[in-house]
Amino acid sequence: MISRETIDEIKNRIDIIDVVGDFITLKRSGQNYKALSPFTNEKTASFYVVPSKGIFKDFSSGKGGDGISFVMEHEGMSYVEALRYLAKKYGVEIKEEAVGQQQLLQQSDRDSLYIVMNYAKDYYRELLFQTDEGRSVGLSYFRERGFNDRTIEKFELGYSIKEWDHFHKKAVAAGYSDDMLEKAGLVIRKENEQTNTVRFYDRFRGRVIFPVHNLAGKVVAFGARILTKEKDQPKYINSPETEIYHKSNVLYGMFQAKNAIRREDFCYLVEGYTDVISMHQADVDNVVASSGTALTEEQIKLIRRFTENVTMLFDGDAAGIKAAIRGVDLVLKGGLNVRVVLLPDGEDPDSMSRKMGSTEYKQFLKSQTKDFISFKIDLLAADAAHDPIKKAEAIREIITSISLIPDPIKRSVYIQETGHLLKISESMLLNELNKIVVQERKKKDSDHKKDTPKDVQFADDITAEISSVYKLDTKRMEQIQEREVIRLLLNYADSELEEDIDLVSYFISEFEDLEFSNETYAKIYHDFYEAKTRGELIDSAYFLNHGSEDVKKLIAELTTRKYYVSPHWGDKYHIIFHDEKEKIVEHAHQNVLRRKYRYVQRLIEENKEKLKDAEKSKSIEEIDDLVETQTRLKSADLEIAKQLGIVSGKY
Ligand code: GTP
Ligand code: MN
Repeated sequence: MISRETIDEIKNRIDIIDVVGDFITLKRSGQNYKALSPFTNEKTASFYVVPSKGIFKDFSSGKGGDGISFVMEHEGMSYVEALRYLAKKYGVEIKEEAVGQQQLLQQSDRDSLYIVMNYAKDYYRELLFQTDEGRSVGLSYFRERGFNDRTIEKFELGYSIKEWDHFHKKAVAAGYSDDMLEKAGLVIRKENEQTNTVRFYDRFRGRVIFPVHNLAGKVVAFGARILTKEKDQPKYINSPETEIYHKSNVLYGMFQAKNAIRREDFCYLVEGYTDVISMHQADVDNVVASSGTALTEEQIKLIRRFTENVTMLFDGDAAGIKAAIRGVDLVLKGGLNVRVVLLPDGEDPDSMSRKMGSTEYKQFLKSQTKDFISFKIDLLAADAAHDPIKKAEAIREIITSISLIPDPIKRSVYIQETGHLLKISESMLLNELNKIVVQERKKKDSDHKKDTPKDVQFADDITAEISSVYKLDTKRMEQIQEREVIRLLLNYADSELEEDIDLVSYFISEFEDLEFSNETYAKIYHDFYEAKTRGELIDSAYFLNHGSEDVKKLIAELTTRKYYVSPHWGDKYHIIFHDEKEKIVEHAHQNVLRRKYRYVQRLIEENKEKLKDAEKSKSIEEIDDLVETQTRLKSADLEIAKQLGIVSGKY
């Protein structure tokens, strides 16, 4: 336990600018300091440090607090770990308890587990270099795989002696209890019923050891690889789940990779321990491994703390391709941008990096990276070229992947790209997307509906389908367009489209009295409008100071890079998005047309409903009026559609 006085002492010495400044570059802004949020990928700085209060506030992620909370958030440390870190930084003395059983018991379970795991890690490392067996078996194996001392050091690799309880004996002699060693998953209890005795033996024996680190660099688990070809022995043995190790929350290599991931703004995802390490050997540091299983939601969240862009490496054989398709969909669902590298048949990231050498390998990875749409199109194109049925299937495949993306803006960007690449109209693709979304929803709902009588269920489904395809979707599409208006305003309000016409004036003159269907958007637009009529120009900072929580949250979302296609992303197709600011005239124009288009669509549907009602009540005059309105709306619709270059299909 760290004493109250020590904690106070640490708090007294903390200089928030100094603490935060160790991790990110701060810019002075009046009394305070500003930076790009380290927790999201934003474009305009909304991370603030207020030295007078000793706090930070990140408007994009909503995180905030004092220096201790910053270190906890940023480095993934526990409270105690953060205190230790800061104590060290400021030279505050904490009396580290001597490591004996008595003291261990007094500490919290988690802390003791960290200490035991750290002891084990040091033990395995020492064996690798200090024993004959370690050197001749373990070290020579690593050498064979091309791992140098620096790499072995970086990943704290080790070796476990091929004896029944070599580790157990040592650890007990050092003061660790059987109980704690078992809890840490390092030893296994064996009870002998005849003699009524208990023995403990080591979980890892005669294997090379790969420690698994948490974000703060503490060892939470081990993976141990066998070196001989023994039957009935698994290639890897891993630590069991413990209080400090939840398999689904951890990615192998994240600790060693996190700074590089942040810097490069993307990360490579591979399968195995050795893939990660070999990539580091080849000087590619932004890489993590899923350890042979499908990514979990938590692991995706972990990646999102550092970047939104993932490049998955797959073996190019049939099984690899299958895994690629499954894996890509999963990661898309998690809201990450996915790119793919398909390796030549029979190769893995490890073998490739050893074959090629650093420079060539990096070049190779760069040139082979495809965004997932191009990847899928390439995969399907060969079959589909001359076969319309296969082509339809291929389109469906791609649309299915797109339907998994949670963010509607991103979805529509991908729909545009797909339309462009496959030369199909966007409206047809959207139609197809709708169908898939409806089907998925039905599938999901069907579980809840088991008890509902059949005919009622059928009627429900029909209603759901009609309303989601024709009504809700129009409304949603309209809101997407409205959101885009707001996003452009927040980011480029002061951009000049022509001489003396900035974006705000342009929108005001184009939209006139077009109403927003979404209240928050309406509010923000209104503020821009009001300010303009006063001859002022406001920007996102204004809303951060004046807006409600809802507005602030929206500002944070729309001013971060999340809604752009990253410059790393899809080298061939990013042209439209990359230099958004330079292309603002075109963007603004397109946006105006699209928004009007969606708006008219909604009016048409509302009018249709009214017409239906009028037909029911047989009010001829009303019907005439409505039909006339419908005709006018339709021709407006057609006019805008033409300007937008939408191929008239459904519309
Ligand atoms: P090398 O064969 O030495 O290149 O190892 P690798 O790490 O590349 O392993 P491989 O490609 O066969 O498997 C990928 C990952 O799946 C490994 O890193 C492990 O995390 C996991 N894995 C593989 N085999 C086993 C096993 O037998 N048991 C368990 N629990 N995990 C395994
Ligand atoms: Mn391998």
